[in-house]
Amino acid sequence: MKVALLGAAGGIGQTLALLLKLRLPVGTDLALYDISPVTPGIAVDISHIPTSVNAVGYSGEDPSEALKDANLVIITAGVARKPGMTRADLFNINADIVKNLVEKVAQVCPQACIGIVTNPVNTLVPIAAEVLRKAGVYDKRKLFGVTTLDVVRAKTFTSELKGKNVETVKVPVIGGHSGTTILPLLSQALAEGVSLSFTQEEIEALTYRIQNAGTEVVEAKAGGGSATLSMAESGARFAVAVFKALLGEDCVRYAYVESKEGSDYPEFFAHPVRFGLTGVEEILPIGQLSEYEQAKLAELKPVLDADIALGKNFVNP
Ligand SMILES: NC(=O)c1ccc[n+]([C@@H]2O[C@H](COP(=O)([O-])OP(=O)(O)OC[C@H]3O[C@@H](n4cnc5c(N)ncnc54)[C@H](O)[C@@H]3O)[C@@H](O)[C@H]2O)c1
Repeated sequence: MKVALLGAAGGIGQTLALLLKLRLPVGTDLALYDISPVTPGIAVDISHIPTSVNAVGYSGEDPSEALKDANLVIITAGVARKPGMTRADLFNINADIVKNLVEKVAQVCPQACIGIVTNPVNTLVPIAAEVLRKAGVYDKRKLFGVTTLDVVRAKTFTSELKGKNVETVKVPVIGGHSGTTILPLLSQALAEGVSLSFTQEEIEALTYRIQNAGTEVVEAKAGGGSATLSMAESGARFAVAVFKALLGEDCVRYAYVESKEGSDYPEFFAHPVRFGLTGVEEILPIGQLSEYEQAKLAELKPVLDADIALGKNFVNP
């Protein structure tokens, strides 16, 4: 079994490569690819760590060797946000990069699951779907946008606010992966298995903080990039769980996937998903929303629909 990480020399990519080397199951092949010539060296570097994950690095224009026989492809390739940029500003550069990489996946390992970390996730996942569809290999069970960082942040910030043990805090996060399209469901938040209660003021402040946490990091890094370490950890949590699901250990994670046919949600939406041997096995129910969350959901739907349409039009102008 093999994982290919595309964008492996970047801020997220290098740390994610390290975490995958530490946490993937024994015997997994880990291919690291980036256009940067430093990539084979990154693989040599982590290959000195004594785990039974076999890391090999590839650089240059063609990812084919890295993709050969991959079961899971994680894409972090692209440019990251600088202060003043929104995720949408990244669109023009990253759309081309992801389109080209997914075209290669369609040719070399069409059966592989693909997890997209590169932003804007809301639009790049529909682009990947269209590219795969054009190549005749689209399988909605095998394509996901990685929204784990939103879930991780919701957990951390909620525990800070409520003074609860962070390990026990659970907060669902649905919707998309930018600004107001990120919808934490605080009405379903739990700590130690018990429901948490919030004032309306807390709900608004916490929702805002979770939605804008990326900007918090971009500003704090003062021109030095966006979230890399927390994203790498989130990406590793997601990738390892999904990879183990492909080996038979089912798991439930939030991810931005194609919605069920005929559902009221936008065509792509972050749902709770049960992953198994073939990727997305089941989209699970979202549960009861509070009035506040229902209003936020109604507001985000047209924004997400527009992000999705942008992606589809990019591939089929
Ligand atoms: N999904 C999320 O929650 C989340 C969180 C944070 C950042 N991101 C996004 O992840 C992406 C990567 O962020 P970063 O901080 O690692 O950026 P970075 O600039 O540090 O790294 C990007 C890497 O991509 C490589 N690259 C560029 N074009 C490539 C190509 N065609 N093929 C292979 N590699 C290529 C670059 O050489 C570089 O090493 C950005 O788009 C960022 O916005 C997503």
